[in-house]
Amino acid sequence: MAVNLRIYLIPLPFLILTYYLLFSGRKATRRNDTYKGRQNANESSNGNPECPSNFHVVDRTCVRCPRGHFSFQGWISCLQWLDCTSIARDVRSRRRIGTPGHLNAVKKVYLADWHGYDVVYSKCANRWYYEDCLHGMQMVEGLQSEFVVQLIGICYNDNLEIVTGYYKHGSADTLNELLDRPELSEFNTLETRFQLSIDYVRILQFLHNSPLGVRVMCDSNDLEKTLSQYLITDEFHLVVNDLDALPEVKPDKGELIKCGHRELYGDFVAPEQVWPHGESRPFNLEEMPSYDEMIDIWRIPNVVDKLLGRVHNSNYVRRLLLGIHESCKQDDPEERPSATEVLEVLLNVQKIIRAGIKSDL
Ligand SMILES: Nc1ncnc2c1ncn2[C@@H]1O[C@H](COP(=O)(O)OP(=O)(O)O)[C@@H](O)[C@H]1O
Ligand SMILES: [Mg+2]
Repeated sequence: MAVNLRIYLIPLPFLILTYYLLFSGRKATRRNDTYKGRQNANESSNGNPECPSNFHVVDRTCVRCPRGHFSFQGWISCLQWLDCTSIARDVRSRRRIGTPGHLNAVKKVYLADWHGYDVVYSKCANRWYYEDCLHGMQMVEGLQSEFVVQLIGICYNDNLEIVTGYYKHGSADTLNELLDRPELSEFNTLETRFQLSIDYVRILQFLHNSPLGVRVMCDSNDLEKTLSQYLITDEFHLVVNDLDALPEVKPDKGELIKCGHRELYGDFVAPEQVWPHGESRPFNLEEMPSYDEMIDIWRIPNVVDKLLGRVHNSNYVRRLLLGIHESCKQDDPEERPSATEVLEVLLNVQKIIRAGIKSDL
């Protein structure tokens, strides 16, 4: 009886939506991107594969949703991104995540509910950051791919709002706490942690060769901040989430960039980002030389070191990475390897790790 009553209480449009998403096989797709993702698609009872989020079923195979659409795991059709009206009507904020502080100044981020699905609703926290926020939203929209947080809805009204998938494992700045949980101890391994390092470099490779040009991850002035911009998927992969500071380098026009307006200090930022005149002259943004995407390469060793953590054989892998990490730390940005070159080395090291694990068995 209680169950029947609950069914009567569900609004009719939502029942129709659920039916449409679960049972209507939509054939039309603009991109024929069959699923070669990071996990195998399981078959469901009706013979259709169970596709991951942002994929749908076409002719019994998982195909990426067309641009401007999204899906959740197990759906057989995709839906259009939510617009301002449907965000206002159907997305309910539950609690604030990403507490304010030096880490979260740009947006207010909430865990929210959309028709029973966990999503994240973010809106611009204040006028000061309006431009950064707008830029970030355009980047998340324009760079949608397996490397970027899943977009579910976007609204460019006065109130800039964006709805994204909820990643229950949170951001990479809290990876150690996450993997310390007893129920996740099986993932606290060299394999998982090295995979996250590979994902990090792969994301840089994507940003440096993106459909929106050569993009540099500027909002990364310290290690914790950098890691807080990346989310951990349920399968322990990384996606980039916060693209509020992603300026474009235009190599053919010789256009370089500067990250922010303030003076930067310390070893975590690349040497070319530090004011070159020391104390002898006060900092002046105009006189500060500009730079390119090689500032992202400088940070790779620190990020990889943190992601690897202290697990069995992590020091052995650190020794294998000594050479490539040394090249990333070349003072001259032109002598540093590209993200593609770093990735190639990391993939070879991953082979060694995998072979080692097999021979241990
Ligand atoms: N989709 C999400 N799923 C889970 N956690 C999220 C999500 N989006 C943001 N967060 C959490 O909120 C923090 C701040 O989000 P972010 O987009 O980086 O905002 P800000 O621009 O204010 O830094 C992230 O570091 C992460 O911990
Ligand atoms: Mg952030």
